[in-house]
Amino acid sequence: MTNEAPQKIYLAEYKPFPFLIDGVELNFDLAPRATRVKSKINFRPNPDSDSREFFLHGENLKLISAKIDGKEISPEVTDLGLTADVPNAPFVFEAEVEISPETNTALEGLYMSGGMYCTQCEAEGFRKITYYPDRPDVMATFKVRIQGSESVLLSNGNPVEQGEGFAEWHDPWPKPAYLFALVAGNLVAHPDSFTTKSGKEVELNIYVRPGDEGKCAFGMEALKRSMTWDEEVYGREYDLDIFNIVAVDDFNMGAMENKGLNIFNSSCVLASPETATDANFERIEGIIAHEYFHNWTGNRITCRDWFQLCLKEGLTVFRDQQFTSDMRSRAVKRIDDVITLRARQFREDNGPLAHPVRPESFVEINNFYTATVYDKGAEIIGMLKRLVGDENYKRALSLYFERHDGEAATIEDWLKVFEDTTGRDLSQFALWYSQAGTPRLKVSEAFEDGTYILTFKQETPPTPGQSEKDPRVIPIAVGLLNPNGDEVRETCVLEMTEEEQSFRFSGLAAKPIPSILREFSAPVILERETTNAERAFLLAHDTDPFNKWEAGRALAKDTITRMLTEDRTVGSDLLDAISKVRRDDSLDPAFRALVLALPSADDIAQTLFDAGHTPDPSRIHTALETVALSYATHLQDVLPKIYADMHIDGPYSPDAEPAGKRALQGAVLSLLSRLDGGNQARAQFAAADNMTQQLQALACLLRIDRGREQLAAFEEQWKDDRLVMDKWFNLQTALAAPEAAVQTTEALTKHAAFDWKNPNRFRATLGGLTGNMAGFHSPDGSGYRLVADWLIKLDAANPQTTARMSTCFDSWRRYDADRQALIKAELTRILETPKLSRDTTEMVTRILG
Ligand code: ARG
Ligand code: ZN
Repeated sequence: MTNEAPQKIYLAEYKPFPFLIDGVELNFDLAPRATRVKSKINFRPNPDSDSREFFLHGENLKLISAKIDGKEISPEVTDLGLTADVPNAPFVFEAEVEISPETNTALEGLYMSGGMYCTQCEAEGFRKITYYPDRPDVMATFKVRIQGSESVLLSNGNPVEQGEGFAEWHDPWPKPAYLFALVAGNLVAHPDSFTTKSGKEVELNIYVRPGDEGKCAFGMEALKRSMTWDEEVYGREYDLDIFNIVAVDDFNMGAMENKGLNIFNSSCVLASPETATDANFERIEGIIAHEYFHNWTGNRITCRDWFQLCLKEGLTVFRDQQFTSDMRSRAVKRIDDVITLRARQFREDNGPLAHPVRPESFVEINNFYTATVYDKGAEIIGMLKRLVGDENYKRALSLYFERHDGEAATIEDWLKVFEDTTGRDLSQFALWYSQAGTPRLKVSEAFEDGTYILTFKQETPPTPGQSEKDPRVIPIAVGLLNPNGDEVRETCVLEMTEEEQSFRFSGLAAKPIPSILREFSAPVILERETTNAERAFLLAHDTDPFNKWEAGRALAKDTITRMLTEDRTVGSDLLDAISKVRRDDSLDPAFRALVLALPSADDIAQTLFDAGHTPDPSRIHTALETVALSYATHLQDVLPKIYADMHIDGPYSPDAEPAGKRALQGAVLSLLSRLDGGNQARAQFAAADNMTQQLQALACLLRIDRGREQLAAFEEQWKDDRLVMDKWFNLQTALAAPEAAVQTTEALTKHAAFDWKNPNRFRATLGGLTGNMAGFHSPDGSGYRLVADWLIKLDAANPQTTARMSTCFDSWRRYDADRQALIKAELTRILETPKLSRDTTEMVTRILG
């Protein structure tokens, strides 16, 4: 049997809710399988609506009683909610429901994790707590009373009263239900405080389970840095007496910006030098900032409906990226962000899951918390800022906060503040929100009589539901270099608006070498005929760090694709160019490490596919290994010296500078280990006093002799640390040799510590395999089968994480006919599973196309 096509929701059908809410009171009486929730909601007719239909969302609720104005009613109740007759005047609705947090494995609504109660309400989880208009445009103030035997009882806003077995909270800021949160547990606090720029004292806490106290200090410092930064850069102050963060082990996503009570996946907040890598520290700092910044971009100004999700997410990602570039290295941050953008968003935009940054329809909104909404959403804001300039951006943002504070806004509102600030017409720019697909930008050039002409042609391939595309506004940052390596024209931004457009640079003595799309000024794919000699030239001379790195990356990609399509060997042009950078001590070590890193297998596969070839995962794997070995042999003489130079004395610090040194040292170690049989890696593993270096060494040894001895030692050392054990699971499946990957994964799923209901552990283990391209795509289809089996099993417990992980199949049409048939059979098998969730049904249907 096939599951029925679930109902689609359309942006075009938006209607305001017929009632407004003047205040909500909630009363929770906690019990693992029978929590009682009493609600009292003051409704009044919404003058902006002509309907008086009273429908409240509600799912998996046991209705005990309902009243209107104190009188018992018998509403009509379905699987989706409740309907009742109500007066055409203000009225009070009361309900009592019973829910079962302990059996809630979907981790939406109120659920339990490691003995504590917690909530996740975005996007539509509040309807699993009580009957309510669970939509972001209905905003209300909340008073919450919690009764429970736990030592810590938390909700949004400010604490009103606490006593034996109860606590009361009042959130004075009107908010939609998706920002509601409740936590109850025997937790310990890592306390601190912050004084805002207008002198308000704010109490800060990070709440964790006993035993995790030692992993809070970094997160707390990051929080205070974020609070200062938002005051200084955006003029935004915090607006409650208290700000709490809680770490939770079972969480579908990274973290959640509930008003005054952020809830975090423990992997995104807990860190100590021994247990977290440099990358973990940086990510934690970025996510703490992201959730904190939502207080203004998301909470004070929220979204009218879920189609506007990018209004808060794109902007908040952009803000957290700005924050990280201010805290660390701007150049390195931009390169990292573009690597992620291409790996996740470009992949999405070029496959069956492509959708506009503001989608026009959805079945399950949880399926739209995507790289497109988040990361392309952030890129759009970066382009807007570049087009209007920094000063205008600042003025527009001030106007946005002033005009829309306390409102549920739209993308139109957002663009209007820029139009009103600058007088620009942004109707063409708005296409970035409505058109899916990554534009291809073809470049050609001419030089005559001292005038250099760059001609661009833009084209966006068709995406599901959108065959025709209109030309977009593309800001193209360009600089020009002289053949001797000097910059003859500093960066300027060309504003492309036509399908084809030329730009002239006059007064040049010689034909320049262009550096196009500096800082990656637009999320497009640049297509330009060029030589590896020119790429090497730009790698050596470009003053724009992004394009300098990009030139090296293009050179490596060109080499690898030619190895696969023309049977070429690794050429000296690549090796010489890379080795210059590798040896250049004047460059930031973090940057040198990025130049050393090879493009991912997935990137190569997509590049080959775009060029009309059928990628072969195992040959790609071999080619990448060959290039790494060539790098190693070519640099043989300098590797030990760089390794030694990057040594840091003194205690570990997660700051950008030492982290960059460790990154370069790790990249060098990986090359060295291809030459020395793993001696250096074994020494590093034995001596490591921090997770970064321990894991780097372990990764090298896995490739050499499967690291048996070190894996066992690592497990023994860390068996009681959940987050570190996630790394242990992940590394083995992610780095297994192609022919061993499926078997390794299968064995690990039988390990006593493989808790498949924990999303972190599931993702670490199965996600490691799906990211191991040659292993996952084993020609016999065993990788596909194993993953499909697990997705089917997980779907019954946790649809959201299942649907998200099903994206591992989204690039199936790249591969050969045999693999396509194998994948299609697995996708069909998933789709035919009885009672498959709406989430997974929508995703798999779209992937099949
Ligand atoms: N708003 C959260 C964030 O960006 C993500 C929550 C996503 N939740 C979900 N169920 N899809 O930080
Ligand atoms: Zn967010």
